[in-house]
Amino acid sequence: MNDPFRPDLLQGKTTIVTGGGSGLGRSTALRLASLGAKVAVLGRRPEPLAETVKTIGDAGGTALAVPCDIRDPEAVRQAFDRVEAELGAANQLVNNAAGNFLCPSEDLSPNAFNSVVQIVLYGSFHCTIELGKRLIARQAKGAVVSIVTSYVTNGSAFVLPSAAAKAGVLAMMRSLAVEWATYGIRLNAVAPGPFPTDGAFSRLLPGSEMEKQALRRVPSRRFGEHWELTNLLAYLLSDASPYQTGDLVTIDGAEALFSGQQFAGFAHLDRAMAKELMASLKPRK
Ligand code: COA
Repeated sequence: MNDPFRPDLLQGKTTIVTGGGSGLGRSTALRLASLGAKVAVLGRRPEPLAETVKTIGDAGGTALAVPCDIRDPEAVRQAFDRVEAELGAANQLVNNAAGNFLCPSEDLSPNAFNSVVQIVLYGSFHCTIELGKRLIARQAKGAVVSIVTSYVTNGSAFVLPSAAAKAGVLAMMRSLAVEWATYGIRLNAVAPGPFPTDGAFSRLLPGSEMEKQALRRVPSRRFGEHWELTNLLAYLLSDASPYQTGDLVTIDGAEALFSGQQFAGFAHLDRAMAKELMASLKPRK
């Protein structure tokens, strides 16, 4: 497939991707670097970060691995200092790092709730505020995209800490989009549906039967491919979307809409069969 974007789409951008060592964060880092961004990947484990950076370097891009626990605001401050010293001041951020697991809510310990909220909500807060403070001080424009989830609006059973934390992240993006518009800082949220990664699928869709059930909820009849999400992120982080801020962009093959529509099940019937069935219900004149 021909690349729909110019190879210098993100030239001049220095972008921090949290959780950039694996899964969708890794794919995002690779894609942004392929479009000319200098990319810093933050995460707790150094090895996957180093692998991501090597892959980007081998492809001719520029990247930096910064081991950092984003739950710690001082560690975040030091990570931003390191990015500034080695890549130049960051002007963009992708809040991607997350934690999640399936658990009946009545069985959650306070620490279990806290562990997810600390990564998702507090981690995104520390990184977003650190970037914002620095951009405002430099009078520089910037952009933030936070990866939320297709259940950010309606919540979700059995992943309460994640649902609550991601809803908080969305509120943060929308609040700051208004507050920081005057500084030229844009903030958006992207809500992916099911995009296969080892981390998410092993935790949230264990076994092929759960995966098949998940697929049945997607009218597009397939899971997302990483490039589809990373192209959306590239667009939102580029100068092609200067007026888009405070938005929630869903990318889920219409999964979330399907779940909320009473007659959506017909979409999964063979269309000729559905037409025949509906015609048979039509009153005869
Ligand atoms: N069900 C119930 N409680 C769980 C749990 C589960 N599956 N997994 C962890 N917990 C609880 C622990 O028991 C602990 O609570 P306790 O001290 O009361 O016993 C608490 O959560 C913290 O667990 P711990 O493993 O010490 O936390 P951590 O900070 O090292 O890990 C997690 C954070 C739990 C979110 C871990 O899954 C993680 O690091 N995930 C990162 C990657 C990820 O989740 N990716 C998926 C994205 S969709």
